[in-house]
Amino acid sequence: MSITLELARTAPADVAATAVGAVKGQFEGGGLDWAHLAGLGFEGKKGDVRAVPGPDGGTTFVVGLGPAEELDADVLRSAAGSVVRAAKRFASLSVDLLGALPATHDGRGAAQAIAEGLVLGGYQFSAYKSDPKRSKLERIVIVGGGGKRVSTAIDRGRVIAEAACWARDLANEPGGSLTPAKLAKQAVAEGARAGFEVTVWDEKEIRKQKLGGLLGVNRGSEQPARFLHLEYAPAKASGTVALVGKGITFDSGGLSLKPADGMIGMKGDMGGAAAVLGAFSAIATLGAKVRVLGFLPITDNMTGGDATRVGDVLTARNGKTIEVLNTDAEGRLILADGLSLASEAAPDAIVDLATLTGACMVALGERIAGLMGNDQGWIDQVHAAADAAGEKVWPLPLPSYLRGKLDSELADMKNITNTRYGGALAAGVFLQEFVGEGIPWAHLDIAGPADSSEVEGELVKGGTGFGVRTLVSLLTAYTTPRP
Ligand code: BES
Ligand code: ZN
Ligand code: ZN
Repeated sequence: MSITLELARTAPADVAATAVGAVKGQFEGGGLDWAHLAGLGFEGKKGDVRAVPGPDGGTTFVVGLGPAEELDADVLRSAAGSVVRAAKRFASLSVDLLGALPATHDGRGAAQAIAEGLVLGGYQFSAYKSDPKRSKLERIVIVGGGGKRVSTAIDRGRVIAEAACWARDLANEPGGSLTPAKLAKQAVAEGARAGFEVTVWDEKEIRKQKLGGLLGVNRGSEQPARFLHLEYAPAKASGTVALVGKGITFDSGGLSLKPADGMIGMKGDMGGAAAVLGAFSAIATLGAKVRVLGFLPITDNMTGGDATRVGDVLTARNGKTIEVLNTDAEGRLILADGLSLASEAAPDAIVDLATLTGACMVALGERIAGLMGNDQGWIDQVHAAADAAGEKVWPLPLPSYLRGKLDSELADMKNITNTRYGGALAAGVFLQEFVGEGIPWAHLDIAGPADSSEVEGELVKGGTGFGVRTLVSLLTAYTTPRP
């Protein structure tokens, strides 16, 4: 059941609780002032939430917005996320955050961000809880002016956040339950509901289509692989963008088995595929002027008796041969087929998303995705879209010297280098070999931000749906890349 979000000029009298934002040192309103709040030990730091009795016996939640000069849509999204959890015992809530923003800011962008924060921050994955302690919130009133334009922005935020919550559900579902076949079924159902095409290749078709990377990774599994083709085609398209997502429903490492601790969380190794699915769900609902194709290789990475051996050679869809020297570097093997197929469709640009390397987390931490690619103009567009959507990405290079480190004695290339340094870059350099000549391509290594170890703002523990907001922002603002 989803909550309703509405816009009103002032907080209605019939809501059970109210929430207001407090900029550090500046708050005044609702019968409260800064001196009073400070007396309660409230510092107005970002994410601080205090419940104070309102004048009429109701409850007012005061949420810290930090210093005025740092206030932007991202701060409001995060504050909305914190508020919605604090107020979960009430059935209805008014949220007065838009008023905190100086009139010079984009009110629509802020309203969208608040709506996103309210939906994302209240997300709970309770499928396996006997007593889920669900939020009671059913109705949230966002206080602000701007009428139709602002309420459209709120609807947009809700649609995008709900799509990200679906991506979270997929990532949070255990690997033994969300098999490749079940993931494909969910995609087909959502395509029919939201309005995008989904074509599923089963094992036989995958073999016929010579997806050697996907077959090689799937070889140790009892569960047959799937390959999903997605298409969103508006009447007058201004171009075609292809999205590719890593869909490993569980990564044990294969015969290059992960240590026990390293395997925890590997049910989320399909976060790239989930982000692509979420983005399709959102744009099919919201509309976009660009045609969008999706290419999703889906399998788990297991250790069955006939699993790919270390030293085996696979032939990817584009004909290149790969010596597998570490079966845990499996994402790049299935993406090799995904990127090859995407390139065959001759799109104007490609973006791939993958929980690809632990090395990317060493470089950029848990909240920032690595951004690589072969075309600066396209990389800049993806970077700008992520910034606008409030998802953090940072550029990493694809140095040509690393290509030599992927040379194999036996095959065209091997799937690892002989050093642990620069692992995120080496993976990117490997992927580049499967991108068609002249096609602008950007690669997002989302190993860190696809999962959250903390509850903060719009984030809760587990899958984050990272990438959905960036992709929707990118596709709705799309222009043909010019290098
Ligand atoms: N799925 C992992 C990467 C990962 C690690 C994602 C931690 C999220 C959190 C990937 O398949 C992997 O195992 N990569 C190896 C590559 C190495 C063998 C070259 C890694 O990062 O160690
Ligand atoms: Zn792996
Ligand atoms: Zn993996």
